[in-house]
Amino acid sequence: MSEESSGNTKKVEVVLSPALFPAYFESTDCTVVVIDVFRATSAICAAFESGIKGLIPVANLEEAIKYKSEGYKVGAERNAEVVDGFDFGNSPLGFKDGKFKGETIVLTTTNGTKAVDVAKSAANVVIGSFANLTAVCEYIEKADKDVLLFCAGWKDRFNLEDTLFAGAVAQKITQNLRFQNISDSTIAAMNMYDAAKDDMYGFLGNSSHRKRLSRLNMEEDVIYCLSLDQTDIVPVLEGDIIVSNKS
Ligand code: MLT
Repeated sequence: MSEESSGNTKKVEVVLSPALFPAYFESTDCTVVVIDVFRATSAICAAFESGIKGLIPVANLEEAIKYKSEGYKVGAERNAEVVDGFDFGNSPLGFKDGKFKGETIVLTTTNGTKAVDVAKSAANVVIGSFANLTAVCEYIEKADKDVLLFCAGWKDRFNLEDTLFAGAVAQKITQNLRFQNISDSTIAAMNMYDAAKDDMYGFLGNSSHRKRLSRLNMEEDVIYCLSLDQTDIVPVLEGDIIVSNKS
């Protein structure tokens, strides 16, 4: 982080893409919220809500294959589609029937799980999506550390949906004067959320990943991913495994 916190105030910054993460990450003593609204972090929230015990995020397919050979159930997604030979993909709706209840599963996705890997040296790494918006904000306040709202984007590029969620979180937590916005990216994200919040679905109509998901008939996933507060669980990274903050 580029400026010192004053007194007991905590800084809130939005990182608009993984390529920018090194520019913002100056101390491990912070909370990083990894955001991949369409769909990795929404799917991880749905998986915990449906009762999984843990989720091992892996950045590449080679590692995922290794876990599969050890007997784990492994999900793999690239470019929004399930990778051949794996057990499931990245649809939040795929977890709804509780079929992995009590299990620790493995997941690799195009951007989301890579972003977790990029952030992993931070003191607190948590998973955020509209599905757990309120719970994430409460977690941040309790953790009482500087905050990086880390947008996974698309292959290092900026995207609208992750920025909207970052703006929603920044707006909520900066209502508590202990948390202060110190960067232009945070102002941009909050302004964008203001413009979009009454119709996020419409606002994202032309966004690249929404169009990609539409082409693949994944409109129901989009609706889930834009629905607020589906769970009060905050998935948190502990070592190499994501677990529920309630376990
Ligand atoms: C990702 O990690 O890039 C995404 O979740 C892509 C997707 O499956 O929609």
